[in-house]
Parts: sequence; C-alpha cells; structure tokens
Amino acid sequence: MKLLKRVTAMAMASMLTLSMAACGGDSAKDAAATGGAEDAAPAETEAPAEPETTPAEEETAPTEDGTEAENTEAPADTAAGAGGNIGVCIYKFDDAFMTTYRNALQEILEGKGYTVTFMDGKNDQAEQNNQINNFIAQEVDALIINPVMTSAADQIIATVKDAGVPTVLINREPTAEQMSAYDKLVYVGCDARQSGTMQGELILDTPNKGDINGDGKVSYIMIQGDPENVDAQYRTEFSVKALTDAGMEVEQLDLQRGDWDRNKGQEIAQNDLAKFGEDIEVVFCNNDDMAIGALQAIQGAGRTVNEDIYLVGVDALDAALNEVANGNMTGTVLNDAKGQAAGAVDAMEALLGGKTYAAGEQSIYVDYVKVTPENVADFQ
Ligand code: GAL
Repeated sequence: MKLLKRVTAMAMASMLTLSMAACGGDSAKDAAATGGAEDAAPAETEAPAEPETTPAEEETAPTEDGTEAENTEAPADTAAGAGGNIGVCIYKFDDAFMTTYRNALQEILEGKGYTVTFMDGKNDQAEQNNQINNFIAQEVDALIINPVMTSAADQIIATVKDAGVPTVLINREPTAEQMSAYDKLVYVGCDARQSGTMQGELILDTPNKGDINGDGKVSYIMIQGDPENVDAQYRTEFSVKALTDAGMEVEQLDLQRGDWDRNKGQEIAQNDLAKFGEDIEVVFCNNDDMAIGALQAIQGAGRTVNEDIYLVGVDALDAALNEVANGNMTGTVLNDAKGQAAGAVDAMEALLGGKTYAAGEQSIYVDYVKVTPENVADFQ
C-alpha cells in the first residue's frame, strides 16, 4: 500500500516539478550551490522547511487515507522519464574526490531535467539523518546518499524503506546483508580491493619492485583514509597483498589514518620521514589528496620520487595526474567519478521505473584504472 501511495505521490510531485521548471524555477539549483555552506541548522531540528531545498510543495500529496491507491503503473514512467525532484546527500562537501563526483552528478541529473538538491553532511551522521528526513518530508522522488558512516547504513536503509523512497547509495558501501533489507535500494561504486591491488602493481612495475635499497624487503608507510570506510580498509590490505602475492617481503614502518585529507597526509609523511628517513622506500596513500600532501613532505625532506622513494595514490585527481606526468608520483588509480555518477543515475532511473533489486545483486561496480606516466595523458 505504501508503495502505491508513493507512486501516486511521485507522479504529482513530478508534475509540480515540471511546472516549476517550465516557469524557469532555478531556485533548487541556486540552493544547491549554496545549500551546504549555509546549512547551519542544528542537528536536532526536524523542520522540513530547509531553505536549501525547493521541491514541489507537499500539501497536495496523498494522505494516509488510502483513497488514491488504485493508480499504480503509469506514474512511475512519468517520474523516470520526465525529471523529478532528487535529493542528494554527500558525506561532506569538503572532500576533493567527492567534489568531482558531486559536480558530475549535478551535470548529469540537471542535463536530464531533474531538479536536484545537494546537502552537505559535514561529516556528521546526525546532520545527515536530518537531511534525509527533510528530503523525505519534502517527498523527493528519489535519494542518492553518500553515507557519513557506513555503520549507520542499517538506520539509513530502514528510514528510506519506511518512506518507500527509491535510493541509490554511493561511495561508502554497506554489506550485502544490510542492503537486502530494501529492494528499492542499490549501491553504485567500485570494488576497493581492485584499487589496492593496482597500487601494489604500480610498485611491482618499478625497476626494483619497490626495494630501492636492495635489502630484500619493501619498507613502506601506509597513510590510510577513514578506517571506517571499506575503501580505506581494502586499499590498505590489498596494496600490500599484491606485493606479498608476488613474493616480495614487506616491512610496515608505520600506518596512520589521514582521513582522506591532504593536510593530514602531509603531517604524517613529514613525521615519518623525520623518524624513518631513508628506510622509507614506498609511501602508500589510500587517496590522492593525502598523496599530494605526502609529496609536499617528501620534497621538503629533500627526497626525490621515483629515485629514492615511491609514492602512489588513488582517485586520479587533476593535481595527481599532473604529478604523475611530471614524475613526482609513481602512479595513481582512476576512481571514475563520472562513470560512477552515470551509473548512479542509471540505477536511480531503473528504480524510478519500477525495478527492484534482489538480495545479493545490489552492488553495481565501476572499474578502476591504473594510471602511469605512460598512459597519464589519456586521463588529463
Ligand atoms: C574514496 C576516495 C577518497 C574519498 C573517500 C570518501 O573512494 O578515494 O578520496 O573521497 O572515497 O569516502
């Protein structure tokens, strides 16, 4: 029953949205541009009337009296094919990779005629929960959510399921079991094991396979993302596993969390370079932003990448691509923001069109790609 009502509500919301668009209503876009920065609502507030969002007003949406429940089929197509209101929750705007991802999503969704509102979770799950609740109260047609905490997945899934909102999770992957609770939910992202393996391969592809000083082992430091995310866990594990699988001995000199953050990457590398000096042969960074920070520390310590130290990241941020091209990074791995954004929108449209996902088939992966000095030009 709930779903049927939801479908009717979607149709009405879509019609309202379309008329808003026809009137040249660009307010959602404007709100999206400023929404995160301006969102000073305290975590406790429940009020749906956030200034950032401008989906169609909800007074006309069906109520719980069940009278509208007959109409099932056609509206879903309307919503899928002709725009609609989409709420997007990003774990925090201030993340280099998620900024490129957010821009890609915005371009695709707006290009397809959707009205899209982005919210900045500011790395605060309570804040994001409020944002999700507000989107639900505003009866958005679909949600795209980059969770702040993967550990909050159960709660997020229960909330969107209860509201019957088709939802695409991105970037932070819950377990298959968690997702199986709701069949109008799908995850679009990458298999982080692949990126870790590729980082290890980048080191294996160097002339000395990472053993610069020839002592028979690869001595490395690991600068980790937020260890709560599987991306951080898997990249940490699989980068080293690629080396040991190839028969290399390894020595971990340090492992510290840099939370995906450039400044933290710089700080950790600087301290480690002071402490371990020449012993460090490889700096593994779970992402490029931390690698760019580490590079500053490496250069500050008078070391030279690809001569007396190796440095790898993940994401293929523009800055990292430049450093790979200049020889200041050994390599990186493309984390395909555009491909994932396109995949997320495709999955969202499938959900809006009525598709449901069986348990165990709720993760859609986009491939990572190794980036080296040889092929970097293809990505720039
Ligand atoms: C990773 C990405 C990191 C960071 C993180 C956020 O996939 O490589 O740079 O954006 O997601 O969860």
